[in-house]
Amino acid sequence: KKAQAWSALFSEPMSELVKRYTASVDFDKRLWQADIEGSLAHAAMLQAQGIIGEQDLADIRRGMAQIRAEIEAGTFEWKLDLEDVHLNIEARLTQLVGDAGKRLHTGRSRNDQVATDVRLWLRGEIDQLQPLLAAMQRALVSVAEKNVDTILPGFTHMQVAQPVSFAHHMLAYVEMFARDAERLADLRKRVNRLPLGSAALAGTSYPLDREMVAQLLGFEAVTQNSLDAVSDRDFAIEFTAFAAIAMMHVSRLAEEIVLWMSQNFAFIDLADRYCTGSSIMPQKRNPDVAELARGKTGRVYGHLTALLTLMKGQPLTYNKDNQEDKEPLFDAVDTLRDTLRIMAEMVEGILVKPEAMESAARRGYATATDLADYLVKKGLPFRDAHEVVAHAVKVGLQRGVDLSELPLEVLQQFHAAIGEDVYEVLTLRGSLQARQVLGGTAPVQVRAQIEWHKQRLA
Ligand code: ARG
Repeated sequence: KKAQAWSALFSEPMSELVKRYTASVDFDKRLWQADIEGSLAHAAMLQAQGIIGEQDLADIRRGMAQIRAEIEAGTFEWKLDLEDVHLNIEARLTQLVGDAGKRLHTGRSRNDQVATDVRLWLRGEIDQLQPLLAAMQRALVSVAEKNVDTILPGFTHMQVAQPVSFAHHMLAYVEMFARDAERLADLRKRVNRLPLGSAALAGTSYPLDREMVAQLLGFEAVTQNSLDAVSDRDFAIEFTAFAAIAMMHVSRLAEEIVLWMSQNFAFIDLADRYCTGSSIMPQKRNPDVAELARGKTGRVYGHLTALLTLMKGQPLTYNKDNQEDKEPLFDAVDTLRDTLRIMAEMVEGILVKPEAMESAARRGYATATDLADYLVKKGLPFRDAHEVVAHAVKVGLQRGVDLSELPLEVLQQFHAAIGEDVYEVLTLRGSLQARQVLGGTAPVQVRAQIEWHKQRLA
């Protein structure tokens, strides 16, 4: 009896500790569907090329159908002794169909097999993430639609800067998630290439038809260098970089939600179903979901760093280090998926408090730039106008009033060109209306943006 699953060379069984340390089945069994799919395509190609017989292929198909059913029913026995998902499925296949099962691995190595499985699996996940990114954008657009005329103090340096439409602010996030979707679609092309046929590292002497396998599995292309194909994990790193960027966007939004919900802003409220209470302070309603989304961003950054670090010291070609690619990648997918789902739902249910936003904009001299622009239209150079308005703001601050509350005689002391028409300019709405430039916050621009996004996301 062999001491090991794969070779008579070994004279003693692996130590228990080593077995547990090297096994990956506990987590890579998640790849089982991709593994079966990949094996079936490989087998069909082996038969088409006359490398295995028709009966072998039929047996492999029958065995795989049963394995699929067993895994789905939860009766498949995953064995740590068999190390990983690939050996577990292959061993069960051989148990079920005999020699045909042993012929499956012809012209193949676990090195090209695992690279294929991870790519297939990731492609499926990418295709489920795209609709979630779209749903996130739709949720933001739907909040925007209801708030074109809601005025928010726009901030720079966290100081009130200029009034903006709250819809415009929501659409800023739509832009970010649209770029994420673009990045994801682009990297999918590089995920969707077939390594199978590279075998252990050097290719194989069997006359494999790699194009056929690629076609069966829906890969856009086959990899061109066997050494690179078995050791490349760029595709996983690229995906995780995308996930880290998308999480960063979510996190910025989450941070704003937390701030806006604080009593000191009170710009929004969240429905109770997205809040949690405190076990000691009865008055509390906390935005835990947003805080967790912000917190989980760090863990996805961690996965990106883990994968980059995993690869940086690896000589060509496959090294067992690569087995460590799975948990970070899986968790990056899971974290992003769950976060997008819950945040989209929560954003859609944001309760906007327009009066609070507007009075904050008023308190912060948000129309000071508009007064300067007004003076420019009356002939002053912008730098002089800037200085004039600084004096006006100073007086406003001393008196504790907004610029629009300063009497005309007072305003005229700063510059004689100021007339009665200045008060239109000093309103928040007038300020918004004036910003008609493409990409600006004027309601007409914002409405056009909303229409464009709605069409694009329909
Ligand atoms: N479980 C391994 C992995 O995830 C499969 C490939 C193992 N290949 C090998 N020669 N040890 O990378």
